This record gives sequence, structure tokens and C-alpha cells, in this order.
Amino acid sequence: ARAEIGVTGLAVMGSNLARNFASKGFVTAVHNRTQARTDALIAEHGGDGDFVPSTSAEEFVASLVKPRRIVIMVKAGGPTDAVIDELAPLLEDGDILIDGGNAKFQDTRRREAALREQGIHFVGCGISGGEEGALLGPSIMPGGSKESYDSLGPMLEKISAHVDGEPCCTHIGTDGAGHFVKMVHNGIEYADMQLIAEAYDLLRRGAGLTPAELADVFAEWNRGDLDSFLIEITAEVLKQVDAETGQPFIDVVVDAAGMKGTGTWTVQNALDLGVPVSGIAEAVFARGLSSLAEQRAASKDLPGPAAAGSVDDRDAFVEDVRLALYASKIVAYAQGLDEIIAGAEEFGWDIDLGAVARIWRGGCIIRAKFLNRITEAYDSAAQQPASLLLAPYFTDAIAGTQDAWRRTVVFAATNGIPAPGFSTALAYYDGLRSERLPAALIQGQRDFFGAHTYRRVDRDGSFHTLWSGDRSEVATD
Ligand code: 6PG
Repeated sequence: ARAEIGVTGLAVMGSNLARNFASKGFVTAVHNRTQARTDALIAEHGGDGDFVPSTSAEEFVASLVKPRRIVIMVKAGGPTDAVIDELAPLLEDGDILIDGGNAKFQDTRRREAALREQGIHFVGCGISGGEEGALLGPSIMPGGSKESYDSLGPMLEKISAHVDGEPCCTHIGTDGAGHFVKMVHNGIEYADMQLIAEAYDLLRRGAGLTPAELADVFAEWNRGDLDSFLIEITAEVLKQVDAETGQPFIDVVVDAAGMKGTGTWTVQNALDLGVPVSGIAEAVFARGLSSLAEQRAASKDLPGPAAAGSVDDRDAFVEDVRLALYASKIVAYAQGLDEIIAGAEEFGWDIDLGAVARIWRGGCIIRAKFLNRITEAYDSAAQQPASLLLAPYFTDAIAGTQDAWRRTVVFAATNGIPAPGFSTALAYYDGLRSERLPAALIQGQRDFFGAHTYRRVDRDGSFHTLWSGDRSEVATD
């Protein structure tokens, strides 16, 4: 046995990850259920590194030095369990099984607990960056035991993306923490994409910019506060012209957004944890609405605003939308980070938010320059801010967007252009900053119809008003 790391599951992500390990000098064992993929990898890239191919799970396991380190790169769900069931009986105490798929963190917790019984370390590992990231350096979010990270971490750090010489990989926390954080990463990814899409829509439908002009706008934005991978690729997508029709590429694509579920999980878990991730939720809902082909077709003639507003100063409007996007994006990150804090508390993880932001600076889909600022916000603060919005840098940033953000939301509503991401972010922001919320009325209603009780602003305890009696108040505890 001489392989230092093994990868099983050699579809694009798996082969690219294996190639990444091999290119960094690790002897890499490779295995796939159907032999043809292993053969193809060796035929095409065998010369790029030291690969050890195998034809069976037994041979694969036997080719690895102990403690064995095996990365599973198969479809999340049943296929992952099938691979674990096949490999686990072949493994020994101290071996490390790594799941690099987009697994549900609850599945990871279950698998980790079961394998721990057998003395096997199970590491649920979020990997972001798509195909190119897997090959050239992804952002890596490993969970699992601290002990497993001691042996595995240095290898993962070596193949990860690097920013300012620092690896985009850190031990996130025990058991499912890595997959939880990857899930939230994807939720933020959904929100970010939705906000960018709304900005595009407002500028195109609201101000009449063409896709080619918009490509330039996004390229320009990518040089400022919004500098990020998603803005960069937005410019590329908008620049693309369809070879067949000569139309802008964007106009030949069906406007129904797909999804594989991670955004939905982020929202489901946020609901369970009681964290208002409204920006992420709206992004999931907007994808859902876009796919309601029948209802959308039937609703085309529903009335809209009588008189649309016009854009007199195009440059000023573009700047307003940019600022609205920036503010809403900060809100989406703030909400995602809140979910991580709540998850850490619920599941007993010790998660360093500054480190999470640090490893998201490179490699992953939401990589962005402003993540440096998030890291600073959490690293420099003596006490963790109660919300990202309360970290001085972001409070100032949002202060500078106020009028533009509000004008943009008003413009969207006035013109009947949906901007659910911008609107919900602003409503969240105003909700947080309101000294009094109408929740007091909801408490009154709850107490009225269900004796659900309420607390008073002026003294401790729970109270109930005898609504159907003499309307006097009674203390209930
Ligand atoms: C990543 C991506 C990756 C995947 C998304 C796409 O971090 O590399 O998030 O995991 O591309 O899950 O998700 P949808 O298909 O749901 O948009």
C-alpha cells in the first residue's frame, strides 16, 4: 500500500478532485463503481500525477496507507450510504472516510455517529467551487472529529484555494458542522444570485439597458465593493451571444430556474431554528415561481401599475441599483451567518465565523472581496457583533446605501417589476431597526383567541386579559 489519499466516485467533481490531489504530489488511489471511468481518468490524466487505479473496493482499500483516507464523491443520499456500506467493513480503527458531496447535515450526523461506533472517523466535508474549483482549488469545509483533521487537514489545505497565502480550508466543527456550513453557503449563493438577477431585471426592464450594456455595467461593478465571482460570471453570461440565432444568450434561455435542494434545506433548517433568513427564502421562492409555467402563462393579463415611472438619469439609476444590491447582499450574508450561529448553538459546534468568512474568500461560488471585511468584523471585535449589520464597517456601508436602496424598491413596486430579494432585505433591515414592532398586536390577538398570554414592558411575568369576561388582567405565573 502506498496511496496517501483515495477518491471513489469519478464523475467530474470526483476526477477533478483526484487530479487536484495528484497534482499536489499526493499518491492518489482512484476507484469507481463502473471501471470505465477509472480507465478514462488514467488514460487522459494518468501522466499528470501518481495515481493508483483499482478495479474493486477491496483493491482500492488495500492500496491505501494507514490510517486510510478516502474521499467519497458520489451523489448525495442513497448512493453515499451504499458506498459507506461497501467500504466500512473493509476499514480499520482510525481510518477516515470523507463525504465530499452536498449531503444533508442530518445525514452526516447520523453517519458520523454510526461509523464512530466502528472506530472510523467520518468527515462530512463541504466542497465548493464547481468543477474548476475541484481541480484547481476549492473552498473546503470539513466537519468531523478534531483528531481526523490533524491527519487530513494538511492535505485538504494543500489542495484548497489560497488567498493571501492562506488556505481556504479550516476545521469547521464536529460531526455535521462542515455540511451545515456548506448548506448555508449554498443558501447565501441562492440569495446572491437572486439579487444579481433582480438588478439585471430592473436595469433591463426599468431602464432599457441591453444585455451587452449590462455586461459592461456588471464588469464595472466587479471593480468595486461588489467584486465577486458571481458578478464576474454575470458579465460573462450577459456578454454571450447565441451562435444559432445571433440573439443575446440570455434571451434564448428558458426563464425557469432549477435547483437541487440545498437552498431549500437552508430555509427549512432556518425555520426549525427560528432564524429569519428572508433573503434566502425569497430566493428559493423566486426560483419556484419562475418554474410555475402554467400559472405564469395564465397570469399574463393580470393588471399591473397604470403608469410606470421612467428613468431620467440612467447613470444615477444604475448607481441606485448597485447600492441596493450591495445592501441586500450584506443582509443576506448577515442572515446566513445568523443561521450558522443558531446551528452551532443547537448542535454544540464551536464555529469561528471569522474563519468561515476567511475560507469563503477563494475557491467557492460566493467568493467575494467583501468577505475580508466579514472576517475583520468577527476577528477584530472584542465581542461578536449581534448581527453582521452591527459591525461598524457594515453599518457604515449600509448607511451609505439608504436612499438608493429605498428608491430602488419603490421603483420596482411602482413599475411592477418583481424585486422580492431587494424588498425583503429592506423590510428585514427596517424590522431590526424598529424600536417597536406590531408584534405587540399579534400577542394581543393570540391572547384574545387562545389565551396564549403576553409579557408586559413594565414588569416581569406572563399575563392574560379576560377578553370575554370583564377584561381585567391576570398574572399567569
Ligand atoms: C458549489 C455549488 C454547488 C452546486 C450548487 C448548485 O458550492 O460549488 O454550490 O454545490 O453547484 O449546489 O445548486 P442548485 O442546482 O440547487 O442551484
